[in-house]
Formats: sequence, structure tokens, C-alpha cells
Amino acid sequence: MTGDAGPISRPAARDVTIARAGLRDLAAVLAIERRCFAGDAWPLLDVIGVLAWPEVVRFKAIVEGRVVGFAAADPHHRGGAAMIATLAVVPEYRRQRIAWRLLESCEAALGARRICLTVRADNEGAQRLYEEFGYRVTDSLPRYYADGAAGIFMEKDHRAS
Ligand SMILES: CC(C)(COP(=O)(O)OP(=O)(O)OC[C@H]1O[C@@H](n2cnc3c(N)ncnc32)[C@H](O)[C@@H]1OP(=O)(O)O)[C@@H](O)C(=O)NCCC(=O)NCCS
Repeated sequence: MTGDAGPISRPAARDVTIARAGLRDLAAVLAIERRCFAGDAWPLLDVIGVLAWPEVVRFKAIVEGRVVGFAAADPHHRGGAAMIATLAVVPEYRRQRIAWRLLESCEAALGARRICLTVRADNEGAQRLYEEFGYRVTDSLPRYYADGAAGIFMEKDHRAS
């Protein structure tokens, strides 16, 4: 049979493994950051920091031995709140609940506490994901990003969910 059969090589979510990430994942995480965030991608030193800092909570998503997603959270961000610092899934593995599982793992590892994050105001997909997770907009951050785009500050009381 000929014709476009769609993305048949996409694995089902059950083939995804979520595991703790560390410095050995530097090259993979750097590539994910650059691919997923473009001009907002963290520089090398920040990626090394997030992978090496002992207290940071970090998880990777693996499919067939390849790291396809990454999330990290700072348990001691500000005022007793934790912060989701980064969350990304490479384009060909999106909409398979991989970010969902990474976020779930981060929240579980952070424990019961208030969690916050910042997302671009023009990133409606990520905002929808966070809203479904129980995060609510509590502030707006004009010209927060390097290209002048606004940011949105979202928070969740993990104990209440
Ligand atoms: C945002 C991102 C992490 C989502 O990853 P993902 O693995 O595709 O997300 P999930 O499959 O877990 O999505 C779960 C739900 O969130 C919502 N969602 C996620 N991405 C969405 C999008 N682009 N548009 C609308 N809703 C979206 C949907 O409700 C989705 O459920 P559904 O697929 O059953 O409709 C991914 O698109 C990405 O890496 N983007 C670039 C980096 C980024 O923006 N990171 C967040 C910065 S704060």
C-alpha cells in the first residue's frame, strides 16, 4: 500500500522510560534545550549546573535508548516554593504524555509543597499542559524573555491537588 501512513514510527507512551538524569546526559540535554527552546535555550554552563547541582530534581524520558525529554526543578526557589526550571520534549515525540510523566515525576520528587514556574505568554501549548496540571496564572512578566516576549508566572499548591 502506498500513501502517507502518518507517523508510524512513533512509539506508544508505554515504551517510554522516565529515569533520573545526571551529568552523563549533558550532550543529550544540551541538544534538547537547543532544539526545543531556540533563542531561550540555556547556555552550556547553566545546563551543566542543572545536571550537577545536588539538590536539583531532574528526570529524562528515554525511548529506545535515546533521551527525548528532560525536566528539572529547583526545590528551594523562593519563599518556600519549588520551581519547575525546564521541561522539554523533542518535536517527534510530542503529544504522547511524555511531558506529563516528566512533570508528575518532578512533582512527586519535590514532595508536597508550593510549586511555581514561568512560561512564555505566547506558548499556549505549555500553558494548557500546566493548567491541566493545576497550575494557575498569578502574575505576568512584561519583556521577560531575551526577544522581548512577555512571561507568565504560574503557581500550584501541590498539597491542595
Ligand atoms: C510543552 C511541551 C513540553 C509538551 O510536551 P508533550 O510531551 O507534547 O506534552 P504532553 O503530551 O504530556 O501533553 C499533555 C497535555 O498537555 C496539553 N498540551 C501539550 N502540548 C500542547 C500543545 N502544543 N497544544 C495544546 N495543548 C497541548 C494537551 O492537553 C495534552 O494532552 P493531549 O495531547 O491529550 O491533548 C513540548 O511541546 C515542548 O517541549 N515544547 C517546547 C519547550 C517548551 O515550551 N517547554 C515548556 C516551557 S515552560
